[in-house]
Amino acid sequence: MSQFTQTKENQQWHTLEDGFDNLTRGTAPIPTPGQDEVLVKIKAVSLNYRDTEVTNGEYNHHKTLSKRTEPLVPCSDALGIIIALGPGADSTWKLGDRVLSTFNQSHLSGQIKAQDMSSGLGKPLDGVLQTYRVFPSTGLVKAPEYLSDEEASCLPIAAVTAWMAIFGMEPFGTWAKDDGKPLKGKTVVLEGTGGVAVAGLQIAKAAGATTIVTSSSDEKLRRAKEELGADYVINYKTTGNWEEKVMEITGEKDGADIILETGGSGTLYKALDCIAFGGLISCIGYTSGKEDKGEGNRMNLNLLALRRNVTLKGIINGPRDRFEEMCEFYERHQIRPVVDKVFGFEQGGEAIKYLRSGSHFGKVVVKVQ
Ligand SMILES: NC(=O)c1ccc[n+]([C@@H]2O[C@H](COP(=O)([O-])OP(=O)(O)OC[C@H]3O[C@@H](n4cnc5c(N)ncnc54)[C@H](OP(=O)(O)O)[C@@H]3O)[C@@H](O)[C@H]2O)c1
Repeated sequence: MSQFTQTKENQQWHTLEDGFDNLTRGTAPIPTPGQDEVLVKIKAVSLNYRDTEVTNGEYNHHKTLSKRTEPLVPCSDALGIIIALGPGADSTWKLGDRVLSTFNQSHLSGQIKAQDMSSGLGKPLDGVLQTYRVFPSTGLVKAPEYLSDEEASCLPIAAVTAWMAIFGMEPFGTWAKDDGKPLKGKTVVLEGTGGVAVAGLQIAKAAGATTIVTSSSDEKLRRAKEELGADYVINYKTTGNWEEKVMEITGEKDGADIILETGGSGTLYKALDCIAFGGLISCIGYTSGKEDKGEGNRMNLNLLALRRNVTLKGIINGPRDRFEEMCEFYERHQIRPVVDKVFGFEQGGEAIKYLRSGSHFGKVVVKVQ
């Protein structure tokens, strides 16, 4: 093992999953990496909607993940530098390597399994809103060199989820066909302009798709169009029936080929009404709500799904090998994640509240050190 002098303390944020305002700061000894583990100095952390739910006590839809009784370090997505190697870890990593955390640490390949859910960072495991953390050597990927620390920190959940939502059902390497433009001729719908949607927009554009973005904000739609090349934009506040607009845009194709369904109860049925026959709705999130409000005679989901032969695929992030595949794609297309705002480490709680306010475009990042 390399020498690492533990002269400093590990600075952490803590939550008891009891509200943004009850987030506290604490310290712990800097951990020592064990067998096949590495110690990472965390430099940047990007935030996800999930982090707001965890800290606010609302992340309850995975039944096996019970509330912690002792303080939890929130957040899952970090960019850091390896500063110490445990025994055996030096065959994978070397000191100074710039790395990204993976979300479910034991999910290395293929379909996620029940037991992988217990390896999630920022619940149930302590997360990354801290200055140092030990990871198993398999719980990290190499960070793309061309990205800044803040940009790279945006990849683990938002970008990998968007990647899987688009290419998760394709065999490895499909994206490389057709000159790296496998979505040529396809239409992709992105709901909102949060982390997943913006990453999805960037990936879909780079892969040659026609893209349609919805948002509550005309200014965000302007940015999506002018800065990221969205082909069509729809304000879902002023155009409540945005699914009709998608049908209009897609014309004779009669619907979008892929929809990144991040909205949940307020959007899923609309997505089902504007998906092409045989299209792919990747069920990702619930920013408009988790529960159906029992609106009258809404058609049963089963029927809605089968009547257009739609594949509904639940997504829980993606495995490490697909993450690495995605990084290759990012590098090839020089995709730069969009960082809306960077907070200092001492503003961690404020950053989480800011994300939940929904005023961001793209990603919110905490610069740790
Ligand atoms: N399954 C997974 O693996 C996975 C991974 C990542 C995220 N998620 C889930 O996916 C969702 C998005 O995550 P995120 O991290 O991208 O969130 P985020 O960065 O906080 O983005 C939230 C955005 O959602 C949009 N939104 C809110 N209400 C909406 C509505 N009624 N219709 C359409 N868009 C709406 C808003 O966009 P505008 O401001 O433009 O209106 C808002 O900015 C969350 O529910 C999250 O839990 C799941």
